[in-house]
Amino acid sequence: MLIAPSLLSANFGHLHADVQMLNKSEADWLHLDVMDGVFVPNISFGFPVIASIAEVAQKPLDVHLMIEHPEKFTARVADLGARVMNVHQEACIHLHRVLTGIRQAGMLAGVTLNPATPINTLEDVVHEADVIMLMSVNPGFGGQSFIPNTIEKVARLKELLLRKGSKALIEVDGGVNRETGALLADAGADILVAGSSVFRATDPQREISILKSLTPNTHTA
Ligand code: DX5
Ligand code: ZN
Repeated sequence: MLIAPSLLSANFGHLHADVQMLNKSEADWLHLDVMDGVFVPNISFGFPVIASIAEVAQKPLDVHLMIEHPEKFTARVADLGARVMNVHQEACIHLHRVLTGIRQAGMLAGVTLNPATPINTLEDVVHEADVIMLMSVNPGFGGQSFIPNTIEKVARLKELLLRKGSKALIEVDGGVNRETGALLADAGADILVAGSSVFRATDPQREISILKSLTPNTHTA
């Protein structure tokens, strides 16, 4: 399992220390949540903060844009050295164009679905995506409860990807912890984003290791 801790739950007064802790951990990507107060009812942080994180980070950056018109910022995200640029399907009228633009800018193209958006909206664009992220909470805030329907939705997305011959990775974001993570591993998730379950743990690095060790069915052994 790949693990992408979300810095939204970090201590913004000690960001460098939290990034250094993640550098030492088994985390695979650093997940960075950008919010504009329009697409979602909250504002988080923007490019200057991500640039500061990028100076210290030794892991690839997974930038999750919860903003209108994310395509306006493709070059800026690429300039930060991001590995993944995740845009919302609901924010992109011309999703095919946006995803191909992200790949042309040298990043992995990620597309994210809100809990209410059906996976069949991606039927004709899966080959343009390297990562498909399912929101398991309504985006905008950390620390929300996991929406159980996501488990079955991951399984249906896996079927769609197999049927289409797509190698896109399945990422899940929101309310992920040991328990929901185990269910998601069984359903076919490849990457788990975890904010509060990591940063509120007594030992964040251990929590990351536990999530990292989740593989289909093995956690029940
Ligand atoms: C929510 C963000 C998430 C958030 C997850 O809109 O996209 O990445 O940080 O936080 P938890 O893991 O606490 O639900
Ligand atoms: Zn996110």
